[in-house]
Amino acid sequence: MNLREEAAADVNVVRQLLLASFPGTGEADLVEKLRAAGDAVISLVAIDGGVLTGHVMFSRMAAPFPALGLAPVAVLSDWRRRGIAAALIQEGIKRAKNEGYAGIFVLGDPGYYQRFGFSIHHADGFDSPYAGPHFMALPLQGNQLPSQSGRVDYAPAFSALE
Ligand SMILES: CC(C)(COP(=O)(O)OP(=O)(O)OC[C@H]1O[C@@H](n2cnc3c(N)ncnc32)[C@H](O)[C@@H]1OP(=O)(O)O)[C@@H](O)C(=O)NCCC(=O)NCCS
Repeated sequence: MNLREEAAADVNVVRQLLLASFPGTGEADLVEKLRAAGDAVISLVAIDGGVLTGHVMFSRMAAPFPALGLAPVAVLSDWRRRGIAAALIQEGIKRAKNEGYAGIFVLGDPGYYQRFGFSIHHADGFDSPYAGPHFMALPLQGNQLPSQSGRVDYAPAFSALE
């Protein structure tokens, strides 16, 4: 498996992956809006034998410190349960850390995301429309986020997503 930054030639293939992976066009449209708005900070693809098998996006958030939101992540159905999503997420986390971001937020299944260090505990002081048992954060520079409270908002493109 090769992980690399998304290239211009991948955009349509990523859209097809997202259309196949989620009901409706919401996530495919979201990724295009995030790119168009300049809010797509890290967009990675996984390539296996020339096939684009997975994609993950990390987008800019409004937060009390430099933060990214992880969403969406998708892997072609025939290629799931081989660790492709995990590899994409780990690579994105590494890049976000190296680029100086203080934290990453994600809305998802804690049973999956806690293996990467995400925790509800790190997110529970923040004011967000997504606050709750599926809203998690991962500190990137040390063991704690620079602050434990305040308002955090995903990029505006997320407001169109149900
Ligand atoms: C969610 C999704 C991205 C996961 O992709 P993936 O590449 O299969 O993810 P991983 O392989 O990293 O891990 C998935 C599961 O497979 C397991 N797994 C990983 N490698 C494995 C292997 N070699 N053998 C068996 N199981 C394995 C993981 O433990 C995990 O299972 P668990 O959560 O029950 O513990 C994929 O299922 C998908 O595209 N779903 C539709 C879109 C979606 O819902 N995205 C998430 C919301 S944005």
